[in-house]
Amino acid sequence: MHRLELTEREVGAILPLVKEVASQHHSVEEANFLDSISTYAQELPRRLRRFLNAFRLREPSGVCMIAGYPVDDSKIGKTPGHWRKGAGTSSTIEEEVFLNLCGALLGDAIAWSHQRDGLICQDLVPIEGHRDEMLGSGSERELVWHTEDARYPYRGDYIGLMCLRNPDAVPTTFASIDEVQLDPSQVEVLFEPRFVFRPDPSHPTDSEWEKASVLFGDPKSPYICFDPYSMDRPEIEEARLAMEYLIRAIDENLTGVTLLPGECLFIDNYKAVHGRSSFKARFDGTDRWLKRINIARDLRKSRDVRKAPASRVIL
Ligand SMILES: [Fe+2]
Repeated sequence: MHRLELTEREVGAILPLVKEVASQHHSVEEANFLDSISTYAQELPRRLRRFLNAFRLREPSGVCMIAGYPVDDSKIGKTPGHWRKGAGTSSTIEEEVFLNLCGALLGDAIAWSHQRDGLICQDLVPIEGHRDEMLGSGSERELVWHTEDARYPYRGDYIGLMCLRNPDAVPTTFASIDEVQLDPSQVEVLFEPRFVFRPDPSHPTDSEWEKASVLFGDPKSPYICFDPYSMDRPEIEEARLAMEYLIRAIDENLTGVTLLPGECLFIDNYKAVHGRSSFKARFDGTDRWLKRINIARDLRKSRDVRKAPASRVIL
């Protein structure tokens, strides 16, 4: 995996920056913070900036990892029982700032008005009432691999995850399309707009049922948009077989990483699918706890569904 281990010196430069930024903002949800984050990010160590820029520009791998940020387990407090944020400054604002600083080197963070109250930086924690559901907040059901927000043309280009704790070593799963040996004749079919992504029933403005391709871009190193769980099986056999072929090929290449506290994983949402293994949650404040952001490379693409040029929420 494309991985960068922060040196002691780099951590020594990052921590004062993170503390300074955190002290100037009440929350990473603040418009003022979001407007300033790409400026702050220019003060990160050059090696880290170069690493993320190479990941963005050259697409060397479907995921990349930044390790070595120190997380103080007692300072962050208990794993919350829900993603809804409480009043007052978060006990994890410094970790949220660091994840957002890194994310700002890839693009601009976005949120969806219909998802999690439009929050930009989200807590991925198991919720007791969602135990058996296939959601980010579920636990006992595997979160089957997918492209994030596959059904939306304004889906993010990257997902950023930062681990705060993971005591049961729950793997985050992924597969990079470049690692999959693809049969060119199947690729040809998967490049055609023959596949239906079902609209999200919880998103009332979304009513189109347009057909789309699963692969796009360069046939030799394609981009992928695939979420079999929310797609119809095509009636025409050729398309159905191609879809089943790709599901099998990805299943065979699915791998995982067990994130440790402080590790940030960036997933290229055009080059890799991702998921999560099932696990037995504790619901006692010590559960797995990740922070998540969604990053768009080009905010302008979604200008028709955002209120202002710098607004991050897609309506
Ligand atoms: Fe996801």
